[in-house]
Amino acid sequence: MNSILVTGGCGFIGTNFVRFLFEKDGENFIVVNVDKLTYAANPENLVDIQERYSKRYFFERADICDFESISRIIDKYDVDTIVHFAAESHVDRSILGPSDFVKTNIVGTFTLLEAVRERFEKGKIIRFHHISTDEVYGSLGKEGYFYESSPYQPRSPYSASKAASDHLVRSYHNTYGLNVTISICSNNYGPYQFPEKLIPLMIVNMLENKELPVYGDGKHIRDWLFVYDHCTAIWEILKKGKVGETYNIGGENEWENIRLVEFLCELVAKKINKEAGSLKKLIKFVKDRPGHDRRYAINCEKIKNELGWRQSVDFETGLDFTVDWYIRNIEWLNKVRSGEYLKWIEINYGYR
Ligand SMILES: NC(=O)c1ccc[n+]([C@@H]2O[C@H](COP(=O)([O-])OP(=O)(O)OC[C@H]3O[C@@H](n4cnc5c(N)ncnc54)[C@H](O)[C@@H]3O)[C@@H](O)[C@H]2O)c1
Repeated sequence: MNSILVTGGCGFIGTNFVRFLFEKDGENFIVVNVDKLTYAANPENLVDIQERYSKRYFFERADICDFESISRIIDKYDVDTIVHFAAESHVDRSILGPSDFVKTNIVGTFTLLEAVRERFEKGKIIRFHHISTDEVYGSLGKEGYFYESSPYQPRSPYSASKAASDHLVRSYHNTYGLNVTISICSNNYGPYQFPEKLIPLMIVNMLENKELPVYGDGKHIRDWLFVYDHCTAIWEILKKGKVGETYNIGGENEWENIRLVEFLCELVAKKINKEAGSLKKLIKFVKDRPGHDRRYAINCEKIKNELGWRQSVDFETGLDFTVDWYIRNIEWLNKVRSGEYLKWIEINYGYR
C-alpha cells in the first residue's frame, strides 16, 4: 500500500481510521481523504493531522457520485487502495428521506467501482475495501447470530441501500475480477461520533439535563464495538484478508438499549458528581421507530480464526474513555450541533 484513498474520512469512523493510519510506525503511505462534507462531517477533526503530516495527508472535497472527480483524484495520487466509508448512515434520516441514501450508498459505491474497473481494464489494480453494517442481515430473535453466510434481509431504507452496495461490490469481483474485500460491522462507539447517534446523544442530553429518549420498550439489543477495534480489524483485512471475501466484525458485547442508557447514567453521574438516579429520571420511552430491528448479534469467528484479529478494549473501559472524551470535548459537540463548522468549510473551501 503506497497510496490509500479513504472515503468519508471526515465522518465518525473515517476520522478514527485516518488517525489510526497515522499512528502506525514505519509506514510511508500517503492518505487521501475524499469527503463531500455533509452535515455528519467535521473537517476540523483532522486539522492536526493535516499540519503534522502535510506531505502524507491530503484532503479532497468531492462527492463519490461524481465519476470525473473520483477519476481525477485516483490518478492524481496514483491510488492503489480504497477504503470506502462514505455513506449516509443514520437510520432515522433514511426513514424521513431515503433519496440521499440511494444516491450516496448505492450510486456512490457504483461510481467508485466503475472508476476502479476502468483502471483495472488498463492493467492498474486497485484494492477496494468496502465497509458495511450488520443491519443488512435484518433482525434476530432471542437466539442466534449473523454469520457471513446469513441471508440478507434489510428492513430500513438505510440497510437496504447498504445491502445493495454490498451486492454491487461482490458482483464487481465475480464479474470483472476486481480485488475487493467487505467487512460487516456491528454498532461502533467512541470519539467523534455525530450526536444524533445513541451514545453521544445520551451523553449530551445528560450533560444538559434534557430528556433521554428511548425507543419503544427499550429492549432492542445491539452489539457494541469500540471504534479503534473496528480500525484494527480493517487493517488486518487490508494486510491479510483474502480477495473476494467478507468478514464480520463485532464486539461480542450485546446490550439492551435501556440497560445501556442506565449504565451511561451511572458513568456520567460519577464524572459530573451527580446522583445516577437524577439522570435516570430523564429517561423517556418514546414511540418506536418503524421497522425497528429487535436484535443484532454478530459472529466474528472468521476474522478471529483466519486473520488473528481480537477486540482490545472491553466495553466498560471503552465507554468510560468515550464519556470522558465527550465531556472534555464539549466545545466540539456544541460546534457540530450548531453547524458552526460549516462556516469553517466556507472559509477554507469557499463554498458549502
Ligand atoms: N457508525 C456505526 O456504528 C457503523 C456500523 C457499521 C457500519 N457502519 C458504516 O461505516 C461507514 C461510516 O459510518 P460513520 O458512522 O462514520 O458515518 P458518518 O455519517 O459519521 O460519516 C459519513 C461520512 O461520509 C461523508 N459522505 C456522505 N456522503 C458522501 C458523498 N456522497 N461523497 C463523499 N462523502 C460523503 C460524510 O460527509 C461523512 O463525513 C458507513 O458506510 C456506515 O454504513 C457504521
